[in-house]
Parts: sequence; structure tokens; C-alpha cells
Amino acid sequence: MEITRIEWTEELKTSHAGLDNQHKELLAMLNELGEAIQQGQGAATMKRIFACALSYADWHFRYEEELAAKYQCPIAERNLREHEAFRQLIAKFEQEYKAARTAELAGQGSSDTLEALAVTFHKQLVDWTFNHIAVVDKQIGEYVSAVTADKAKAVTAC
Ligand SMILES: [Fe+2]
Ligand SMILES: [Fe+2]
Repeated sequence: MEITRIEWTEELKTSHAGLDNQHKELLAMLNELGEAIQQGQGAATMKRIFACALSYADWHFRYEEELAAKYQCPIAERNLREHEAFRQLIAKFEQEYKAARTAELAGQGSSDTLEALAVTFHKQLVDWTFNHIAVVDKQIGEYVSAVTADKAKAVTAC
């Protein structure tokens, strides 16, 4: 299975170094899963990624949501909704993984099913990541940068 490595692009930059660094960690997680799929180890890695993705969500989403709230970003509500969709995506695949694994152990499924699930999981995570960061997080980063730059100008002007 050929999985394209995801590179950090201009499209994903948010104008906020802290957010960009944290987003790069999510990309690293996606690439780790992509490489495992290529080696036929997608299912085992997917199982580990569920927990990593949820702990990433707890850490990064909280940071970003607090930032958006602090600067009253107009897109803050949409950011919250899409973060919740990410958590639901992980929960959905975790359930599907458990069901497929149970079937496999009972001799009713096959490891091919689990590998195929890992491919779908990877694709949906990649889609969520690009659609979210390039649209919502980008606006948060640009908004926060603009507000903080204005405040710096005001301080300099005094
Ligand atoms: Fe976000
Ligand atoms: Fe983010």
C-alpha cells in the first residue's frame, strides 16, 4: 500500500509559531501511521495512535482553545466544534477496530480487514487535519498575530 508522506506546507502555516510546532507533531503522528501501513503494520500502530491522538487533543486543543478565547477569535466556536469532531472520529475508529479485532480473534474476520481500516483511518485523519488547520487554525493564528502586533505597536507608540 502506497501512502504519500505528508509534508509541512505553506498552506498549513498559521502565523503562530507555537501552534505550528504543535501541528507538526500531529503530522509526525500521521506519517508514523502511514509508514506503518506501508510495512503492513497499520493495525498495530493504529491501536497505539488512538491513545496518542486523544492525548494530543487534550494537550493541543486546550492550548489552542484557550488562545482563541483569550483573544476572542471570531472562529473560536467553529474551532471547538471541529475539535469535538476529531475526538468523535477517533472514538468511531476505536470502536470499529475493537469490533474487527474481536471478529478476527473469533475467526470471522481477517487481518486484511484491520489493515484496510487503518488505511481509511489514516485518510480521514489526513483530511480532517488539512481541512481544519488550513482553514480554522490558520485564522486563529493570523488573528492572534494581528492583535498582538497591534498591541505591540500601541506600546511602542506610548
Ligand atoms: Fe484547531
Ligand atoms: Fe490546531
